[in-house]
Formats: sequence, C-alpha cells, structure tokens
Amino acid sequence: MEMPNGSSKNVMELFRLDGRRALITGGAKGLGRVIAQALAEAGADVAIASRTLADCKKTANEIANSTGRHAAGFAVDVTKRDEMQKLRKEVESTLGPVDILVNNAGINIRGPIEELSETDFNDVISTNLTAPFLCSQAFGPPMCERGWGRLINLGSIMSVIALSARAPYASSKAGVLGLTRVLALEWATKGVTVNAICPGPFATDMNKQLLNDPAKYQDFVSRIPMGRWGELSEIGGVAVFLASDAASFITGSALFVDGGWTAQ
Ligand SMILES: NC(=O)c1ccc[n+]([C@@H]2O[C@H](COP(=O)([O-])OP(=O)(O)OC[C@H]3O[C@@H](n4cnc5c(N)ncnc54)[C@H](OP(=O)(O)O)[C@@H]3O)[C@@H](O)[C@H]2O)c1
Repeated sequence: MEMPNGSSKNVMELFRLDGRRALITGGAKGLGRVIAQALAEAGADVAIASRTLADCKKTANEIANSTGRHAAGFAVDVTKRDEMQKLRKEVESTLGPVDILVNNAGINIRGPIEELSETDFNDVISTNLTAPFLCSQAFGPPMCERGWGRLINLGSIMSVIALSARAPYASSKAGVLGLTRVLALEWATKGVTVNAICPGPFATDMNKQLLNDPAKYQDFVSRIPMGRWGELSEIGGVAVFLASDAASFITGSALFVDGGWTAQ
C-alpha cells in the first residue's frame, strides 16, 4: 500500500493527481464537466460517461486538448448494473484502472407529493442513489485491492435540509450521504476514502426551471448568506482536494459548497 500521503512532499504537490485515472459519471456537462476539467488540470486522465455518447466524446476531446491529458468518452446508463460492468471493462482497456470515481450523474423531478407518480420517485432514486451504489460496487473493490482510491459522491444541501416539492430528490440525496458514510467505514483501512460534495444551487441544466423564473431564482438568493448562486468554477477545486493526497485523512465527510446556506 502507498503511504497515506507523500508527507515529504511540498504541500502544493499533495494536490497533484499525476498518474491517476478518474471516472466522472454525467461528466459531459454541468458540474460533472467542471469536475472532469479540474481533475485533468491537476494531472489525472479522465473518463467521461453518460447516456449521450456524442456529448461525452466532445467534452473528452475538449478536455484532452486544453490539458494535454488522456480523456475519453463512454456511453452508460448508470441505473443499469450490466452497463456498469461493461463500462468498467471499457474504461480499464482505454485508460487503465480507475483510481478516482466521481458519482455525479443525477436528475431531479420536482412537484408536490400529490402530483408525483411512483415512477417519478423511483427514477430519481435509481439515478441519484442506486446508481452510486452500483458504480461504487463496480469500481471500489478494485481500488481496495490496489490500496489507493477516492470515491466522491455528489450529495446536495438537500442531503441535510428540505425544500417543498423535492420528495424524490431530497430522499435520494439524504441516502447518498448514508451510502457515503457506510462505504467510508467499510474501506477505511484499504487506502480508499469516500466523501460527498454537497452543493447549493448552481446554474446548470438541472436548474433551468428555477433559472427561468426570476421569483424562484431570487427566493434562492435570499436564502444564501453570500447572496448569490455558486459559480460553476467554484466546484472544481473541491473535487481536486478530495481526490488528492491532501485529503488523505478525510473519509465519510460531506463538504458543503453552498455559500453558507446550511450554516444557518
Ligand atoms: N446544479 C446544482 O445546483 C446542484 C446542486 C446540488 C447537487 N447537484 C448534483 O450534482 C450532480 C450534477 O448536477 P448538474 O446540475 O451538473 O446536472 P446536469 O447539468 O443536468 O447534468 C447531469 C448529468 O448526468 C447525466 N445523467 C443523468 N442520468 C443519467 C443516467 N441514467 N446515466 C448516465 N448519466 C446520466 C446527464 O447526461 P445524459 O442525460 O446525457 O445521460 C448529465 O451529463 C447531480 O448529482 C446533482 O444532483 C447539483
């Protein structure tokens, strides 16, 4: 097993990810894309996977061109166990074994509980919670065997607080925090850390509805002590930190990137 971190290194070197390989689910756009770009800028080769292969390949090309790292796109529906196993084989044969898994793919279906169907609820749970379980099951044990790994799950402020009309999403993201803590315990002695990034609101496709509604947008701003939404660029460094040797003694934690929302 490697040393927990390169303690003889200059502190800034601890943040480097040279020689690491990262898989980012849902990495073609939104927060996942920013995370993939940041991990590559820190030195990692990156695999980008979602249901839309063309988007993944395009993003991978742009990341490879701007960073000089290897980057490749893969098609996967993260809710399907057999596709996950296939993805693992494809990524390993293209880039090598995955050291850093970012469970980022996610969806949100909003509405009061009277109007939501069981299918709505199950779709959100299977993408946001079951898929991180399946993906961790596919990629975590090989990390344990190699004695080094990083799992980063995308939680949300709704892992710990509630908003009306978010029953499926808040349930899934609370579950993600539970999953994060359990896996952290299971792999604590294996050199594999498991943590969550819990963002507040960021302007991505997932939030189009809110972004197109000035009243709802402002309502969110009024709940954020910093008085603004997050900038996409503000998520990248958080992922690099958790993926790096600088975070070698952090496991089972949640890092809130929310302008102070959950501090209140
Ligand atoms: N934006 C925010 O304010 C915010 C706040 C807190 C937490 N988060 C979390 O951050 C993560 C990223 O959110 P985002 O805002 O960047 O979302 P986004 O822009 O809508 O991107 C979601 C990504 O997930 C992929 N995806 C969805 N379902 C999938 C499936 N079944 N299989 C494979 N890929 C799938 C999408 O690609 P395809 O549709 O092409 O498959 C897309 O690449 C999510 O987990 C979200 O819950 C976001």
